[in-house]
Amino acid sequence: SPDDLSEIYTFAVQLGKDAGQMLMQAARLRTDDTRASQQQEEHVQKANAVDLVTETDENIEAFIKNQISSKFPTHKFVGEESYSKGSSRQYLIDDAPTWCVDPLDGTVNYIHLFPMFCVSIAFIHKSKPVIGVINAPFLNQFFSSCAGRGAFLNETQPLPLIRNPVPPMPAKAPSGCVFSCEWGKDRKDVPDGNLHRKVESFMNMAAEIGGRGGKGGMVHGVRSLGSATLDLAYVAMGSFDIWWEGGCWEWDVAAGIAILHEAGGLITTANPPENCETSPIDEVKLGSRLYLAIRPAGPSANETGRESQ
Ligand code: IPD
Repeated sequence: SPDDLSEIYTFAVQLGKDAGQMLMQAARLRTDDTRASQQQEEHVQKANAVDLVTETDENIEAFIKNQISSKFPTHKFVGEESYSKGSSRQYLIDDAPTWCVDPLDGTVNYIHLFPMFCVSIAFIHKSKPVIGVINAPFLNQFFSSCAGRGAFLNETQPLPLIRNPVPPMPAKAPSGCVFSCEWGKDRKDVPDGNLHRKVESFMNMAAEIGGRGGKGGMVHGVRSLGSATLDLAYVAMGSFDIWWEGGCWEWDVAAGIAILHEAGGLITTANPPENCETSPIDEVKLGSRLYLAIRPAGPSANETGRESQ
């Protein structure tokens, strides 16, 4: 039963490895001279000119779906390529044991051979992502987690990477933080539209006076890698302090949320920079389009009383 996650976790890890190998092979073929005269892999547009799908996305999703349905025929499957072609935006996750899969997150990166692309597999139990597997084969990075057992890089290194002690968030966060935010796919140039809000958010974070949060200081860096699920893995790792995106689908974030939770990070549906404090944040409902993630953090000087001594 899903209450015993061991079998499902072992299966998910192997599935992530096999699917990652398919992704690596497909990426290698794109760099192979002997294929120069052959047809290169095509990509086609989905919702718009930056919303793309390749044969690799579809082949890997078909493989994963097949493996899951042979092993766990009663489990539900939600995958990017099965759902995103339809335009309906209904909430896809319910209480049924569900696999939520992005066969290739970072499709644009894959097409341009920028190594930030990965397979992302989550198992969701009672609406919560409890197992996460993210395999970025070009980076040799394999992230995995299972509820109650911690989160790991390459199966051996616990996350976050910096421990003993885990550093607190900078006292004036987002000042002193690395902030990661995605551009998403909605490029409509309308006032108050998604694109404007995102650019404004980038600027608010990068600006010397700290933007609307009015906190003063400066963020250390603003990043945009092109894979939401990998962004969350890097928040879990502790490398990114804060991540934000509006416009995500369930499969963009499910595995990343599972891994982030196990690493001790926080995720909520809010806008930065007003909400970048480390105060407790409600558990997030999968199915929101807007997310703000904060890395695992040790107690601040204030909390430990060091400041007053
Ligand atoms: C996309 C990437 C991108 C994010 C988009 C996602 P895809 O997924 O994660 O970083 O901004 O919202 O849809 O299409 O590459 O699997």
